[in-house]
Formats: sequence, C-alpha cells, structure tokens
Amino acid sequence: MGADKKDLKTHHEVSLHNSPNDCWVIINAKVYDVTNFLNDHPGGDEILLAAAGKDASEEFEEAGHGSAARLMLDEFYVAEINPSTKNPFLQPPFHQQIFFKSSIKLIIIKASHPGKM
Ligand code: HEM
Repeated sequence: MGADKKDLKTHHEVSLHNSPNDCWVIINAKVYDVTNFLNDHPGGDEILLAAAGKDASEEFEEAGHGSAARLMLDEFYVAEINPSTKNPFLQPPFHQQIFFKSSIKLIIIKASHPGKM
C-alpha cells in the first residue's frame, strides 16, 4: 500500500487523535485508527488508550503480536507517517542526555561552593 504524499500524517496531527472516541496509534511508521477496535482488542482497551496519539511501535513488538494481529493492521490503516516531522515523544540521543545531566551537576556543585571554583 503505497501512500500518496498528500496522505502523509505528521506526529502532531496523530497526537490530536488521543481519546476513546478518536484513537490513532503509530506502529512502524504507519498510522492506524483503532477507535472501533478498542473493545475488541485481546490486549484490552486500556493499553491502546495509553498509546493513543503516540508511536507504539516498541510496545506493539514487545507484546509479541502474532501473524493474526499483523494481518489485522491493514483493516485500521490510515496513512504513513511523514518521516521528516519530529516525534515529540522521542528522547534525545543518549550522549546528549549524559552531557545535559553532567552540565546540571556541575552547575549545582558550583552553586553550592561559591567562590571556590
Ligand atoms: C492496530 C493495532 C493492534 C492490533 C490489530 C492488535 C491485535 C492484537 C491481537 C490479535 C492480540 C491477540 C494475540 C495475537 O494474536 O497476537 C493482541 C494482544 C495484545 N496486544 Fe495488541 N494489537 C494492536 C495494538 C497494540 C498495541 C499498540 C499494544 C500496546 C501498546 C498492544 C498490546 C497487546 C498486548 C499486551 C496483548 C497481549 C494480551 C494477552 O496476551 O493477554 N496491542 N493484540
């Protein structure tokens, strides 16, 4: 199923579909509307609602879905995600997090030893 360029959805657009009446999830760069599947999902509606409007690729893979679940995906397909849009839920790369944490630590140490450093 090749998506037309105009059909591409942004992460922001998907994030607006985050309620029991309107629930979209992203799985492996594809957007799915699972609103009508909430009550039928064997894993329960709560887990889908927790992922509503977000990228649930990892959760989907970790749940160990079999081929039946994968075949069902087509039924709920909406569009591809626009890969050039930023995923607001993605954390910065690990080295950036470490750099940020050590900078904060240094500021705290300097602040608690005024004049000594
Ligand atoms: C359109 C998307 C999805 C479909 C079609 C789907 C379908 C299914 C199906 C058919 C099963 C039964 C087991 C199997 O056949 O593999 C299942 C189980 C499960 N699903 Fe999903 N699922 C979807 C999304 C998700 C997401 C996003 C999550 C997590 C955030 C999730 C979590 C689970 C869990 C934890 C189970 C296991 C339940 C158990 O064994 O008690 N599913 N799902």
